[in-house]
Amino acid sequence: MVTAILVLGLSLCLVLHAAPGVDQTSKTSEKKLTERLQQCQKEHHDLNLMLQAVTQDSRCRLCPDGWLWWRGHCYFFSVGLQENRRWNESADFCLKHNSSLAVIRDTAEMEFIQGVMRKFPQFPFLWVGLTDTEQEGQWLWWDGTDIQHYMPLTVEWDADHRDCADLRGGGSLFAANCEAYGPWACQRDS
Ligand SMILES: *[C@@H]1O[C@H](CO)[C@@H](O)[C@H](O)[C@H]1NC(C)=O
Ligand SMILES: *[C@@H]1O[C@H](CO)[C@@H](O)[C@H](O)[C@H]1NC(C)=O
Repeated sequence: MVTAILVLGLSLCLVLHAAPGVDQTSKTSEKKLTERLQQCQKEHHDLNLMLQAVTQDSRCRLCPDGWLWWRGHCYFFSVGLQENRRWNESADFCLKHNSSLAVIRDTAEMEFIQGVMRKFPQFPFLWVGLTDTEQEGQWLWWDGTDIQHYMPLTVEWDADHRDCADLRGGGSLFAANCEAYGPWACQRDS
């Protein structure tokens, strides 16, 4: 990407500077061409420095260290980075990092999360932002929408004392005791 911009910049520069010089005698045009080339090399050098400054600026990074970028969002997977937590503590961690427990909005996002889970065989399950604490049996995503709002999902093993949903490999959701300790996934806009 950066290289492509540089190459484009350099060729544009050569074209712009070289174009008007065709009807000069060969001697002067050669001299001018050399000057132009030097000018272009200098511009190329400046452009390079500018790009370096831009790409090394932390403000240009899409996600914080340890977070993954996917389709306009940043994701944090706690496995290997944080001790397991209860559901509410996981949610609290996400909030403190300007994010929320993951809300899975389509099959592509489910596939992405499943792909990450497959890379870590030690994922027993993953807390996501889905709970029926407010009203037994009414599962709501973190953003307040019904579980079926985005995709036709259901939570297995629902029971009174299991109010927090955990995500398993294969994309199934199970009702779990919110007091259980587990890894989790946070999500926020990039
Ligand atoms: C999470 O829940 C536990 C027990 O249910 C409670 O002791 C703790 O203070 C809660 N933590 C947060 C961050 O809400
Ligand atoms: C969260 O956002 C606030 C306000 O934009 C910012 O001051 C703070 O540094 C952010 N915290 C983290 C952990 O990114």
